[in-house]
Amino acid sequence: AKLIVNASSGRPIPETLFGIFFEEINHAGAGGIWAELVSNRGFEAGGQNTPSNIAPWSIIGDQSSLTVSTDRSSCFERNKVALRMHVLCDSEGSNICPVGGVGIYNPGFWGMNIEQGKIYKVVLYVRSLGSINVSVSLTSSDGLQILATANIVDSDVSNWTKTEVLLEAKGTNPNSRLQLTTSRKGVIWFDQVSAMPLDTYKGHGFQKELIEMLEDIKPQFIRFPGGCFVEGEWLRNAFRWKESIGPWEERPGHFGDVWMYWTDDGLGYFEFLQLSEDLGARPIWVFNNGISHRDEVDTTTVSPFVQEALDGLEFARGASDSKWGSVRAAMGHPEPFDLKYVAVGNEDCWKKNYRGNYLKFYDAIKRAYPDIKIISNCDGSSHSLDHPADYYDFHIYTSASHLFSMTHQFDHTSRSGPKAFVSEYAVTGKDAGTGSLLAALAEAGFLIGLEKNSDIVEMASYAPLFVNTNDRRWNPDAIVFNSSMHYGTPSYWVQKFFRESSGATLLDAKLQTNSSSLVASAITWTNSVDGETYLKIKIVNFGNRQVSLKVSVDGLGLNSELSGSTKTVLTSSNVMDENSFTHPNKVVPDLSLLENADKDMNIILAPYSLTSLDLLT
Ligand code: AHR
Repeated sequence: AKLIVNASSGRPIPETLFGIFFEEINHAGAGGIWAELVSNRGFEAGGQNTPSNIAPWSIIGDQSSLTVSTDRSSCFERNKVALRMHVLCDSEGSNICPVGGVGIYNPGFWGMNIEQGKIYKVVLYVRSLGSINVSVSLTSSDGLQILATANIVDSDVSNWTKTEVLLEAKGTNPNSRLQLTTSRKGVIWFDQVSAMPLDTYKGHGFQKELIEMLEDIKPQFIRFPGGCFVEGEWLRNAFRWKESIGPWEERPGHFGDVWMYWTDDGLGYFEFLQLSEDLGARPIWVFNNGISHRDEVDTTTVSPFVQEALDGLEFARGASDSKWGSVRAAMGHPEPFDLKYVAVGNEDCWKKNYRGNYLKFYDAIKRAYPDIKIISNCDGSSHSLDHPADYYDFHIYTSASHLFSMTHQFDHTSRSGPKAFVSEYAVTGKDAGTGSLLAALAEAGFLIGLEKNSDIVEMASYAPLFVNTNDRRWNPDAIVFNSSMHYGTPSYWVQKFFRESSGATLLDAKLQTNSSSLVASAITWTNSVDGETYLKIKIVNFGNRQVSLKVSVDGLGLNSELSGSTKTVLTSSNVMDENSFTHPNKVVPDLSLLENADKDMNIILAPYSLTSLDLLT
């Protein structure tokens, strides 16, 4: 086989091409990238009525020493449920409390990862008729090993009182819990109990290590917060941005009934915009369009939803003295966020009211914000849309061989009309398992096709991005984690091969071969750090045989420094190999010097591999 690359001419690839899609699925946010350690911090997970569901909070002590219940006495109007703890024992007298006291504990999301030397900020609201003496501790899962502790001693908490303590961990335990205990008789109410590490990504509340994984693939955009999460199984459980902003204590939280878990909504609309800004990625806000999986609002009555979207845009972009812009400013961001893309719903094209509802949103948004790009749920790749849009959304979950063959999917798509946004793609099913090399290589072939068709495909993102292994709702995913460990699946690592593509120049790369298992592309890109321009050739060998490939690069400048060129290969001994917590680096890119770098060279492509050749031009 032969690959002929012409380095002297090319066309620009859109700056936006490769980004990420974050959905609150698999506990990706709550118990994932959002660094809050307490689950169900306001005791509202059972809803706004009492008795509410306090799980995963549990009780320390038995009925002779305390009773625990919920009532609606909180000081927070939008989440009235509070926990009431009636302590019957004391440090003296006839009913002595057990050693360590009685109280409640929260194990977080399948154990809190507490690390020695790190500082954790615990905030809670408390009220009592008498004086209190409460220990706030981070302990092992059985409560025996105390990693950090502080006492809240107060003589007057007759009104709800906010209390903050900083705890420095004296040990490490990935399966810790937060305890609130006392040995003093009386009645205490608790509400809105939060514990977070002080050290978060850019100080904005995100779990550092997980976000650094994102930083590493240089996403050009973030589509958020779903997915089905935006739709809800029923409209009443859909993500509502207004319920997710303002002081965290005042957010009601909600039950996401598609992926079936409660979120306190600490990770809300503002936080998504902040994360986009912190990553230098364009925010793409998907909002609910009055349609869920099971119910729909008729177009004649959709105007409150349209107003909600317009208010959301004002929140993100409005002046700091506008109605919603001032709420954003009060949250610490007086400058507008750079929100320029919105998607009207998710996967709703086939629904009865989609077109009618869509047009209401489209007209209202274009009138108020003419520069905002609007993404339709209807696929315009095989026929033209019957409604105006700047982009159409394209989702594909399929087998490995099918996705690999879809490298040509957009070759014959009309070049006029809206651009394509491949906002969800992945190999799924038995080819993928929980993240195989086979799946990743098929995706690499597909992405090479998108690069080549980037005159019409302007954005693409893998889905889903994250999975907490304690709540796998969807397989596979790009980044796998639990309370203390994480790794990238091969599909994650494939995305790293494409991080230089957005904004690069696509070169003409002709592959001469009889094999249908090879695809290749070539780009030049300029490294903003050293100002140097690199030539990058990517080749997928989707076959089970080694291939000898002649590569010839025409039109390279005289100064081309080929001696420092490198080769990066993603492969493994078995195409179904996956990474795991025990073997996180089984299938990861392997970087080496390209010994025979030249304008004409022979490259051996391993069976089932993705190879990148990086030459300094
Ligand atoms: O990525 C998982 C789900 O797949 C998304 O929520 C939805 O948009 C699609 O069906």
